[in-house]
Amino acid sequence: MIELEHVSKSFGGVKAVRDVNLIIDHEKILGLIGCNGAGKTTLFNLIAGQFPATSGRILFDGEDVTALPAYDRAKLGIARTFQIPQPLMKLSLFENVLVGAFMRTADRDEAGAAAMAVLDQTGLVDKADLYAGELTTPDLKRLEVARALATGPQVLLLDEVMAGLRPAEVDAAMEMCRTIQKSGVTIVLVEHVMYAVMNLCEHVVVLDQGSIIADDTPENIAADSRVIDIYLGREHANDEAA
Ligand SMILES: Nc1ncnc2c1ncn2[C@@H]1O[C@H](COP(=O)(O)OP(=O)(O)O)[C@@H](O)[C@H]1O
Ligand SMILES: [Mg+2]
Repeated sequence: MIELEHVSKSFGGVKAVRDVNLIIDHEKILGLIGCNGAGKTTLFNLIAGQFPATSGRILFDGEDVTALPAYDRAKLGIARTFQIPQPLMKLSLFENVLVGAFMRTADRDEAGAAAMAVLDQTGLVDKADLYAGELTTPDLKRLEVARALATGPQVLLLDEVMAGLRPAEVDAAMEMCRTIQKSGVTIVLVEHVMYAVMNLCEHVVVLDQGSIIADDTPENIAADSRVIDIYLGREHANDEAA
């Protein structure tokens, strides 16, 4: 469904993404892991159209979307969350999600019903009338997912939505991902919580300094000595230092 062909992105002298070739399949959960600065968020920005690629092509269902701006890609069905949640703090949760729902319909009742369904799907329906500014971190992360999901995407790019969550909250977030996948949405999961990546994803891609260095099943990724060296080992070392 989404294909990246030789996609690169430079910021001045920094090559954030280098010659990435990637296929994101229908209705799967694809994991994307790598150290801080590896280029994961930049890859999301390229897929969602936040900025253009320096070179390469991006196809969505066979259509070349390389030159399309973010709004048009969102209308086609590509939605993303932001690593730092960006809700409208002075609006209620319902209103926050409604904004996204208006992407798929101009009808107020239809958009309202879609917003409530998404709040239900993300476990926020009881908090629909709270202001976003009143939420705790786990709920803010859920709202970030809900806002993206409200647009009715085919592909949902989740950028570290489990960061800072406690184990029980991670379990709940994983359950939410499974529910979303079962509703027919393809998920790309950028996540440092390895337990979640290994359990949710059929396939995992590892980025290092902008390049894909491994693309395999979670089992093979966990056993890949290069990945352990570059990422899993380093993360583990960080854990021990913390
Ligand atoms: N908008 C930007 N302008 C300049 N440099 C950027 C920008 N976004 C990311 N970078 C740089 O690109 C590299 C990859 O960053 P990023 O994609 O955020 O990594 P990750 O999400 O894997 O931690 C880093 O060196 C970062 O400093
Ligand atoms: Mg990032």
